[in-house]
Amino acid sequence: MRADPLTMSLETVIAASPMLGHMLEDRSSVRNRQEPALVDLFRDAGTVELSNPDQEHLFLVAPLDLLVVETDGRKQFHITETNGTGIGGLTNLPLDVVSTVLDGLTEMATRLPEPNALVLAAISGMESNKNPRHNHLVHEKMLYAEALKRGFEKHGHSAKVLTMAQLEQDPKAIDTDQPTVVLGYIKELLNSLGMNRDGRLRLFGRPVDGAVNDRFCLNVLSRFGHQVDMTRFATMNRCFVPGADKGKAYELLNEFAAENKDDLFPNKVRFSRAGNRPALIAGVLNWLREGRKAVIKAQGTGLGHGIEFFLDPEEAVDSIIDKIDHSIKVTEAYYGAIGGAFPYTVCEFVDTCTVPRNGHPLFGHKYEVRVVVYRDGATLKAIPGITKISSQGYDADKSNRLSLINNITTSAEAKKREGTDFMLPLCNEETLDILGIDADQMKRVCAYCSRYVRYILDQVQAQPERFGLAGVWGDLNQDDRSLVLKRA
Ligand SMILES: Nc1ncnc2c1ncn2[C@@H]1O[C@H](COP(=O)(O)OP(=O)(O)O)[C@@H](O)[C@H]1O
Ligand SMILES: [Mg+2]
Repeated sequence: MRADPLTMSLETVIAASPMLGHMLEDRSSVRNRQEPALVDLFRDAGTVELSNPDQEHLFLVAPLDLLVVETDGRKQFHITETNGTGIGGLTNLPLDVVSTVLDGLTEMATRLPEPNALVLAAISGMESNKNPRHNHLVHEKMLYAEALKRGFEKHGHSAKVLTMAQLEQDPKAIDTDQPTVVLGYIKELLNSLGMNRDGRLRLFGRPVDGAVNDRFCLNVLSRFGHQVDMTRFATMNRCFVPGADKGKAYELLNEFAAENKDDLFPNKVRFSRAGNRPALIAGVLNWLREGRKAVIKAQGTGLGHGIEFFLDPEEAVDSIIDKIDHSIKVTEAYYGAIGGAFPYTVCEFVDTCTVPRNGHPLFGHKYEVRVVVYRDGATLKAIPGITKISSQGYDADKSNRLSLINNITTSAEAKKREGTDFMLPLCNEETLDILGIDADQMKRVCAYCSRYVRYILDQVQAQPERFGLAGVWGDLNQDDRSLVLKRA
């Protein structure tokens, strides 16, 4: 068969990216070091059936981040966040995983009932106006757009891909009766979205039928005061709330952990919630008064934005308040969260392991592991993706922010280096050896992660109102309620 002459490889797009605007990051060096035998071993251990086939349309993918601690030679894994479909680094994973995830998006597009549906594929980046950050993995979201387009085309419609960069110059371009995918940065999309009185979202006047990116979905709901009609708004994942709100993820994790005791995982995450600034200040002070170190996390943010650490029980109150106000300001400016991205989560600081291999270039740096849970038909599968390593060595006596944040983008930007310099593939013997994690532990971690995600999906079905799916839940009849669950 002759190749489609108008289709080009991702490799060529990445290679040409500096000519097109900004550099895109090639993750093939990480992907190619994921060892197939370990991929199979871990994934088999991390495979569970969904509780029922109705859950298939509720979920696509969630990369879980886990902090690793070691006490008396015993490792424990703390799930810090579940993230979701905004995943950066899909292309770190073996290609069959990339295919399965993209097939899920194609399926999503085929399920939308509107013949001319509009789906928004949101990308993180450009948060700061002063130092706007281009996303170096935009090509992964371009793959999303193509996958959605393929789905629309299965119904025989020719579909269109538009970008916010173009629409901001020419909003009329959206006036087409073709099914359409709009790619754009979260902030650009939020700034241009509107909502009708009936809870229907609109972009430049055109009704919006769906969106992909957990954080974006929750930001949309917050922006419109949770009045969005969720019978008309398909969100992938449908469990986007815990994906975007760490406190929600911990609440669910604690329920799951109580029923699934395992000595590789803590029985409980200590956390509290704060709905406004005074509650947040009081929360942190109470936490420190009890002699506990604290971390604050905003709702719907990422890349460490809004995160602050309170490690000194004697820290002056003025300094504590300054840090909290800084966090609130950052989330207002970067995420357009009016009054700050509340509710915040206050949680316990976990003093994690550092890379223990003497002589390794990142020896003494804190790290975390990322386990990606994804859906393949009626099963959930988990595979370890990468370890993310902070950009500065950790010194307990004078810890600074950079040594505490294991975020690839933050590390790469701070050190003006490639993101791949701060990650290692996890389905890789050498990495496991460097970190001192054994294969049996990793198998158990994968199994735990996929069962936790299944628990979340069970709760979405049982109690949709806990997951931002209520909208006007109280006013919905039974048919509409089931429509809300089907709309993903
Ligand atoms: N409870 C915690 N204890 C210690 N460090 C933490 C804790 N939670 C998060 N961190 C650090 O902060 C970083 C960002 O936190 P995370 O919850 O992953 O939010 P984000 O969405 O901003 O990535 C993590 O990569 C980790 O380095
Ligand atoms: Mg994180």
